[in-house]
Amino acid sequence: MAIELIPLPLPASADPSKFQHFGREVKGIDPANISDKEFEEIQDALYKHDALLFRGVDLSPEKQYALTKAFDPTVDSYGHGNNKTGSEKKSILHPDLKTIPRVPQVQLIGNGTVYNHEGLAEAMLKHPSHTTFHKTRVSPEDEAKGITRFYRWHIDAALYDLSPPKVTTLYGIQVPDGPTQVCRYDDGTGDELPVPLGTTAFVSGRTMFDILPQELKSVAVRARVKYAPHPYVWMAPAHAMSTALGIESEGLELPLDELPPWEESKRKTLPVTWKNPVTGELHFQVHPCGAAELIIDPLPEGAKREGALYPDGAHLTDLKEVRGLLYKMQRPAIAPTFIYPHDWKPKDLVLFHNRGVLHTVVGAFTKEQVRAFHQCNLAASEDPKGPTPEDVKKYA
Ligand SMILES: [Fe+2]
Repeated sequence: MAIELIPLPLPASADPSKFQHFGREVKGIDPANISDKEFEEIQDALYKHDALLFRGVDLSPEKQYALTKAFDPTVDSYGHGNNKTGSEKKSILHPDLKTIPRVPQVQLIGNGTVYNHEGLAEAMLKHPSHTTFHKTRVSPEDEAKGITRFYRWHIDAALYDLSPPKVTTLYGIQVPDGPTQVCRYDDGTGDELPVPLGTTAFVSGRTMFDILPQELKSVAVRARVKYAPHPYVWMAPAHAMSTALGIESEGLELPLDELPPWEESKRKTLPVTWKNPVTGELHFQVHPCGAAELIIDPLPEGAKREGALYPDGAHLTDLKEVRGLLYKMQRPAIAPTFIYPHDWKPKDLVLFHNRGVLHTVVGAFTKEQVRAFHQCNLAASEDPKGPTPEDVKKYA
């Protein structure tokens, strides 16, 4: 059977003109049993459309790992490393991930207690909630009415030592039914987004770049972001903004000399825009919570200086300034019209281009609402490529 690619159903909140490239449901292929030719087609479709949905899939952890690995065949370590001991215990991510014993690259994530699951006798899962991460929270009264928030907009990546995974696979095994919720931005804009319970929300990094005004596109193609060492330990005492798109600058990050041992050479400095290996388009790919510094190159020779920001380049090290500039560039793209909130059904498999999208956990479950998902991504064989000199010329 030939591969069939069908646009994903969009919610009423989404502007269809902004989703011409993003997201396809794939039919005619069983992702648990794919030929080499079918894999080529899936890979091509993933980089062109950034998120692929397969419905009604039966997928063992072994098969999920194999599928994920096919995108980067020489690697075999989970995106945050396979060894979750020692320093990783202090990470803000630690409680959210339970490893499948047979296949340590696959994590069990979700909510509630799961029994006899793939070699785990009993796993207590907790859906991350904004209430433990944001500076402010939705009142318990509003929460009871179904008001909620995005948790943390991010790329799946350790952002220290390891390279950001190319692809993440997310497989829904148990998906609780429940009423829709309303995700509130609480940033004074009045923005809000109705979402299915426990949705995963995606935005396209390509759109994030495309909708920027010229002067910010110019900054984006000239900039690199330097991440904090052990960013998830560093950010653990800090609080996120109400839009979940970064950290409030209150000076609460763990001081660098109190972090687990780290080396300057293992810190990640990555381009702000990443070049899509198939389409050549630029995707704005910054994990705002981990960003510590911005390094902006001067305008290339021949570029117009008039109206340009940082024409002679800059090295921003003031956290508030770094975050302010990133927020200005990223916030437009998380407006409700640009978001695809996936409405999970049991046996859904979503593959997303982790170097082309940002995503977040959304919403809150009760303890009785059991959700079990398998997630897999692998630290990549190389760092993402930034814009070419031609790209910089074009946009600077
Ligand atoms: Fe994630």
